[in-house]
Amino acid sequence: MLARTVDLLKAAMQSHPRYGVLAFNVIGMEHAEAIIQGAEAEGAPVILQISQNAVRYRIGALEPLVAACRELALASRAPVALHLDHATTHELCQRAAAAGMSSVMFDASMESNEQNIEVTATEARWAHDLGLGIEGEFGIVGGKDGAITTREGMTDPHAARDYVAATSVDALAVSVGTEHGMMDREIELDFERISALREAVDVPLVLHGSSGVPDEDLAEAVRRGIVKVNLATQINVAYTRAIRQFLDDNLDVSDPRWYGAVGRAAIVEVVRAKCRLLSASDQG
Ligand code: G3H
Ligand code: ZN
Repeated sequence: MLARTVDLLKAAMQSHPRYGVLAFNVIGMEHAEAIIQGAEAEGAPVILQISQNAVRYRIGALEPLVAACRELALASRAPVALHLDHATTHELCQRAAAAGMSSVMFDASMESNEQNIEVTATEARWAHDLGLGIEGEFGIVGGKDGAITTREGMTDPHAARDYVAATSVDALAVSVGTEHGMMDREIELDFERISALREAVDVPLVLHGSSGVPDEDLAEAVRRGIVKVNLATQINVAYTRAIRQFLDDNLDVSDPRWYGAVGRAAIVEVVRAKCRLLSASDQG
């Protein structure tokens, strides 16, 4: 069923014991099919998110991919929400709204704090007028657009409270140690900072760059207050590895359905494992 991001996050935030809502990045149909299949198998809600960079890869076309995700969501037994990830332009947010996404991330984290607050507040007024949810980012999560994660760039809890009050965002992406695009799981999260942020801020906290976090630490991050867990690299690694292996073993295969199915199955397994990891029953 098609769900709304803010409703999925609100339900998770109010749940005891806690659970995390996974938000996986969609690049093509196989991704969307696999993510939904994995969520259905585990009875978990899920967010399909499409990033501005993925739109660029789809030759600028957001709408066809959203239409496909929407149809898959409508037909799904799992609650599935559609979210625009890492948008830096108002124009793309408008297109996401028109295409039927229920929320957008407006990423002004590379601007000065003052500028971030100003443009995100403006975007939030627009989003709320349309009934859309909006995620803002305060602090710098590295591994994207030349940014690097540093202690100074991590999210300060008191400043984060002011940011949420000034912008009215519905969810807050925070910098607590992660970097985007990590192939190894060796990130050390700042757990104390997550707890302090949870105390300071009353909207759902979002973890970007979750692929670099060891599983047990991801579960601990959710116990401490992370609600939305963004994951992309790990499913892409599984997808590409499985296809590479399959093609190496089957040199005469040319039909994309043969290796596409193998890649899709690999994503399903990662999605299922993450859903189980962050489910309420495993959060103690
Ligand atoms: O917005 C998307 C996420 O932050 C994905 O990060 O590719 O490191 O898992 P990741
Ligand atoms: Zn991200």
